Amino acid sequence: QKRIGILTSGGDCAGLNAAIRAVVHRAVGTYNWEVVGILRSTQGLMSRPPQAMTLDTKQVDPTLTLAGTMLGTTNKGNPFAFPMPDGTVCDRSAEIIEGYHQLGLNALIGIGGDGSLALLRKLANQGGIHFVGIPKTIDNDVAVTERSIGFDTAVNIATEGLDRLHFTAASHDRVMILEVMGRDAGHIAISAGIAGGADIILIPEIPYSLENICGKIRERQKQGKNYSLAIVSEAVRTETGEVVESSVGLGERRYGGIGHYLADRICACTGAETRVTVLGHTQRGGLPSPLDRLTASVFGVAAVDLIANGHYDQMVTWQNRQVVTVPIADVISKYQVVDPNSTLVKTARGLGICLGD
Ligand code: F6P
Repeated sequence: QKRIGILTSGGDCAGLNAAIRAVVHRAVGTYNWEVVGILRSTQGLMSRPPQAMTLDTKQVDPTLTLAGTMLGTTNKGNPFAFPMPDGTVCDRSAEIIEGYHQLGLNALIGIGGDGSLALLRKLANQGGIHFVGIPKTIDNDVAVTERSIGFDTAVNIATEGLDRLHFTAASHDRVMILEVMGRDAGHIAISAGIAGGADIILIPEIPYSLENICGKIRERQKQGKNYSLAIVSEAVRTETGEVVESSVGLGERRYGGIGHYLADRICACTGAETRVTVLGHTQRGGLPSPLDRLTASVFGVAAVDLIANGHYDQMVTWQNRQVVTVPIADVISKYQVVDPNSTLVKTARGLGICLGD
């Protein structure tokens, strides 16, 4: 009989509830353990008493199709340098570890991206916590695993964005620019760009020149194709490598910068009318795709089985059509960006899509 904790950490995405549900089904249903859901990531463990709730299958079943996370999350508050109201930072790791032990837990499952998993692992090592990780991120940049929860839904939403832009672009003879998420990597842009029939795909891994982009648009115009669709990852910079500051958005993250920058430049050099759509956080919401629900369910069951077998400090991954567990140490701080020689990049080139280079 065990009592295990589960928390979600970092930015949310579609499929987190499906993973929580799978953990509860396996742990409660198969092993007859108790599952404690920790609220708002490690912040729930900082509170006194720790903020947590016991989860049963009846409670989690209706959440399979819901985006977000029923436990809440945060991507602010590094436990080792926690931002205090007076502007200073404070190491609050000991409080979190104490909160974990106050709950009487035997193990912890953390669902997070690269950054969150690294912090949770550090806490676990420091506090004698039996930890298992599940990868999630719409950016799909966690190393080793071919799938992370949330990516497929984000690609579906970005693809639908292009689908919807095609006809309005054609009706008005416009160049439409769709800016999508991906903090450091262009996985969403390259996948959705191919699936949604973009004419131009810009990702941070491939340097571009405006002349090449405008050349593609002019070539299409000569062929009587008076409209073009471009998809650009938010991580793309100016031709000379500067981050484009957007005039909208508060706080450290700003969106809509590179899309608007490109729209102005393309208009100036081709004379085409341009419009920009910034998808932003819509890519993290909505109905989780069947593939994300599937990935989340596989990962949830496998994570509980790791605990049952006494295998800790591991992360579940998807490789070659199956779930494979790897040491977390092999994964963290190794971003998986788009390989310029990958099949997807070659496919985009094969389709005649302009990648800007
Ligand atoms: O890492 C996931 C992600 O959605 C990125 O694609 C994006 O840059 C970032 O998080 C947004 O973070 P926030 O919700 O804090 O603005």
